[in-house]
Amino acid sequence: MSEILEKRFPAADTVVLSRGDGCNLVVHLFGATVLSWENRGKEILFLSENAVFNNKKAIRGGIPIVFPCFGPWDKGPQHGFARIKRWQVESPPKEEDSNIVCCLSLSDDEETRQMWDYQFKLLYTIQLGASSLTLKFTIQNTGNKEFDFTTLMHTYFRTGDISHASISGLEQLTYIDKVSDGKEEVEKREFVVIPENYDRVYKNCPSEIIVKGVTEKSGDVLIKTHNFPDIVVWNPWADKAKAMGDFGDDEYKTMLCVEAGYVSKPVTIGSGSVLHFSQTLSML
Ligand code: BG6
Repeated sequence: MSEILEKRFPAADTVVLSRGDGCNLVVHLFGATVLSWENRGKEILFLSENAVFNNKKAIRGGIPIVFPCFGPWDKGPQHGFARIKRWQVESPPKEEDSNIVCCLSLSDDEETRQMWDYQFKLLYTIQLGASSLTLKFTIQNTGNKEFDFTTLMHTYFRTGDISHASISGLEQLTYIDKVSDGKEEVEKREFVVIPENYDRVYKNCPSEIIVKGVTEKSGDVLIKTHNFPDIVVWNPWADKAKAMGDFGDDEYKTMLCVEAGYVSKPVTIGSGSVLHFSQTLSML
């Protein structure tokens, strides 16, 4: 773990996956939030300088998990409770087929049942490879009634300069434009650049998307998804950045959220069933 992260977080709050080849990952048990993924000297993820670590507020940056609701929620906090609950270590980091793997878990409790009366167990398996990171999310319905949910991996990529970043793989897809009252449009561009406040849900996405201009040194990352048909593209831009207490005024220039999820319609899971979702981020 970098010295800065060591000073910021007590060891009891984080799990560190270290490969010994310059590839390290730090995950906070609060929200199972991946805080940092260092790949041979390059930090891939954005973590705001103003992020709040009070075990109450969702962490601004890294990869928080959204479950059981994406967006505003009438029963509980925006983007659900998974990103603001403390997760358990189901199995600590160990080497498996030349990856470092650990698993975190979260089950329903009194607090979750008060806002959302269902029983579940979530497993989050984090697998750190030499140039890739695989995040597997398993949802088990452990109760006796079915429930609906939406879910997403809210990945904040670090960009050297947002004006040099782009996303490919979204051409011809329909997106919901959340900054234009949810109007639906078709993406015409092969390379989607971000010149202003963007908050879009691209639907029926292919399972491979490329984000260009990631890290201060401008690398490309392939996002490979399983069971995540939607990709949310979000950057608050200057005015919204200023209005956010846990985000620096100029940080919109150095971040880009590309979020794989199942959000444009809900998923239904029957009693006793298990569903699997995943994304693999690979440095190209
Ligand atoms: C994105 C949403 O996924 O998350 C945006 O599409 C939202 O609408 C953004 O503003 C950040 O949400 P929050 O709750 O972390 O501030």
